[in-house]
Amino acid sequence: MLVVSSVLDALKKWKIGGLTFSSSVSSKDLREFAHLFVSLDPTTKSIEDFRQELVNLAVAGIELKDSRLLNLKEDLPENRSSKAQHKVRSKTAYGKAADAVGSLTQSSRDGKALSFKQAKRAIQNIVDLMMQDESIMLGLTTLRCHDQYTHNHSVNVSLLSIALANRAGYPKIELADLGLAALFHDMGKSTIPLEVLNKPGEFTEDEWTMMRNHPTEGVLSLTQLRGITNLPARMAAASFEHHMNLDYSGYPKLKTPWKLSLTGRILTIADCYDAMTSSRVYRREPMSPSKVLNMMLSKSGKSFDVTLLKLFVNCVGIIPIGSLVVLDSDAFAVVLKPATDTTESERPVVKVITDAQGTPIDNGPELDLTEKDDAGEYRYSIIRLVDNTEHKFDTSRYFV
Ligand SMILES: [Fe+2]
Ligand SMILES: [Fe+2]
Repeated sequence: MLVVSSVLDALKKWKIGGLTFSSSVSSKDLREFAHLFVSLDPTTKSIEDFRQELVNLAVAGIELKDSRLLNLKEDLPENRSSKAQHKVRSKTAYGKAADAVGSLTQSSRDGKALSFKQAKRAIQNIVDLMMQDESIMLGLTTLRCHDQYTHNHSVNVSLLSIALANRAGYPKIELADLGLAALFHDMGKSTIPLEVLNKPGEFTEDEWTMMRNHPTEGVLSLTQLRGITNLPARMAAASFEHHMNLDYSGYPKLKTPWKLSLTGRILTIADCYDAMTSSRVYRREPMSPSKVLNMMLSKSGKSFDVTLLKLFVNCVGIIPIGSLVVLDSDAFAVVLKPATDTTESERPVVKVITDAQGTPIDNGPELDLTEKDDAGEYRYSIIRLVDNTEHKFDTSRYFV
């Protein structure tokens, strides 16, 4: 991680947004490039100087892309429409994954044979889309649709797990497997009668026992599925370990020593975050995303893995995606994605949704809060975080 982040920092200082190596680049050229990369000083030299040095040394086939130009390109009209297409594709993939969970859970309740084909395809699609634009997919996790809760929760946990695993350096080709395992982490709930699951009000002690058995029941129901011949270890771990907690304070309680898998540790974080920010889980009122993050950070190293939790905060942002904020202009805005620069994490990208009087506006501007004016002052700042659980304001529509 240290090596990777120091390379990223250097790229940022150079304002290099991309590097292209042609297949014909010789090892000598690569060495020259590497030498320049560590020896030139980005505080006194520009990306143009870097390019010139490469030319001077006759290094060919290595291209440096200016990140400032990349940012400009993002705003071109044709890119805007492709962004809209990307949103539609992301939403469709989300819907398909939710449908797959719905029909598989129903089949499991009915004791029918299950096929994971549809779910696998949906998750692979989601992984591909997330590699292109993570924030749009993560924005969909702020969708709060009550009757669809269980299915949405499964998809949200899957999306959040994929994003976290990706940051934790999980092999790219295995992200879809993890996503699939995450999608069925609550499969054990299909053994709980619907009257209990949907019961308004408090659970009885027996009902709690049933609830606490769902991780173990999940492994059992997964082993009975005909769609998967060998129950992949990840799927079993996702179900069995997601309520255990890092310090084993959760459930199931075991008499023998147990080592939590990476999958289990990732799932614990993604599951807790989505469950707490959503309404209806564990009969509690939903909490605002930032309150949930603070609560989780207070249990860092106890319930949650310290490093993974830090990476998770990078995924959703310290002022998490979907948060409602008030800007210094008095306008309300929704957090769309975390700041790219983690040193400015309290300055995410937001979308303005009202004017200064609080009247809703359509198609308000997207603002990057790290932007400064000519005098070097920040153009816009957040003055207040609004607890949206009080306002019941549907922020998700700004993502879809
Ligand atoms: Fe669960
Ligand atoms: Fe869950």
